[in-house]
Amino acid sequence: MAVPFVQDWDVVQILGEGAYGEVRLLVNRKTEETVAVKVVDMSSHNDCLENVKKEVCVHKMLSHANIVRFFGHRSEGHIHYIFLEYCSGGELFDRIEPDVGMPEKDAHRFFQQLIAGVEYLHGVGITHRDIKPENILLDEKDILKISDFGLATVFRHRGRERLLSRVCGTLPYVAPELMSRVEFRAQAADAWACGIVLTAMLAGELPWDQPTESCQEYTDWLQKKTYTTPWKKISAMPLCLLTKILSHNPEERITIPDIKKHRWYSQTFKSVPKRANDVQSSSKMLRSDSEVSPLGRKTSDERVQMSSSQPEPQALWEISGSILQTGAPQVSFSQPACPDHMLLGSQLLCTPGASQNSWQRLVRRMTRFFTTLNAEATSLALRETCISMGYTWKQSCNTQVTVSTMDRRNNKLIFMVYFLEMEQRILVDFRLSKGDGLEFKRHFVKIKQKLSDIIINQKISFPTS
Ligand code: ADE
Repeated sequence: MAVPFVQDWDVVQILGEGAYGEVRLLVNRKTEETVAVKVVDMSSHNDCLENVKKEVCVHKMLSHANIVRFFGHRSEGHIHYIFLEYCSGGELFDRIEPDVGMPEKDAHRFFQQLIAGVEYLHGVGITHRDIKPENILLDEKDILKISDFGLATVFRHRGRERLLSRVCGTLPYVAPELMSRVEFRAQAADAWACGIVLTAMLAGELPWDQPTESCQEYTDWLQKKTYTTPWKKISAMPLCLLTKILSHNPEERITIPDIKKHRWYSQTFKSVPKRANDVQSSSKMLRSDSEVSPLGRKTSDERVQMSSSQPEPQALWEISGSILQTGAPQVSFSQPACPDHMLLGSQLLCTPGASQNSWQRLVRRMTRFFTTLNAEATSLALRETCISMGYTWKQSCNTQVTVSTMDRRNNKLIFMVYFLEMEQRILVDFRLSKGDGLEFKRHFVKIKQKLSDIIINQKISFPTS
């Protein structure tokens, strides 16, 4: 295999963070090619070496339009790097407006692509085991890509299926048989999770915390009470499909080949003609017009990790050591003490070949805004707002604050706020550290409303070049 990535890669942005470590965006200074690198530090997570090995082993054998491409893996001491296709459209999660969802046509298209990816995985004997909107990414053309194979495993080898027994995944997405049976079939469990994702896309909420009889919403579903939310928001045809996917009994559950034959799945949605001056697709409009939300995001402690022994994968990448360190940010802020969180490489910003300009890159995620004030005044205004809302405010340095509160289910909600100066404006970036993603987004919306006087309206100031 040719080695396409040799030198001059800059870390330009942190794409995501989790208990395992973080995902960084690398951009090649010369070619402007992009790649995502998942960085796992084994010194702080010594239990996960086997997990990383397995993730690499599974992911490297996959090749499909709806699966995030795996480029390679290498390790340097305790640090493991997994190089992946960069999906500039972000998480599916961020296309879902809380309590609303997204247009049925968009949900239909994403669901078809999700099913195509899952069908491929099952065809090669792999089950993902943690299908949820946070693990589903979108590329620049809004093509859906299944990501994160940290819990994936082989369920069929040489034509022989093995039953699974390990309970893993994320509670609102797990199938009921995982909670009640010693052994269960992999494909039916993944199909169930796809049904929960479809519900989230169509209604903007998750139907239950977990599929057990202790959960009222689930018992209501078993009793076919579809006049309640979220079901009442969903039109008849997709609801009919959902009743077949979310069938309690896995033996009676619709299979993926039959999902593909369902009337709603196979129908063609009429496309609404685009106005000439529309620069964004309907889902992108949704994202920038209204607040869109992460749904049911669970912290990694709610994910039961698994382990197995697999042969060490070959290191595929020859990369000069320096590229794996964060490049010097060209944006400045008075306090450079927390540099790793939001770095912007000047090479990327404003380069003609890059598919987005700097503003577009920065405003893609919805939990951030630009303000009209300077850094100090922005921080003061946010502090005052947070304190008035009863939140705990803990400033780590000039550029970084930890905010904690309780959500409406009385669960802990902790998020980080980063301040970044860019082109004479202050970007305030919110990131969930612990708690439910939907709640995080609701709190963000409240804060944003309270600060509306100092927030720059992105629709007005958003450059289109
Ligand atoms: N977040 C996690 N993995 C990613 C990827 N491959 N592309 C974009 N964002 C990501």
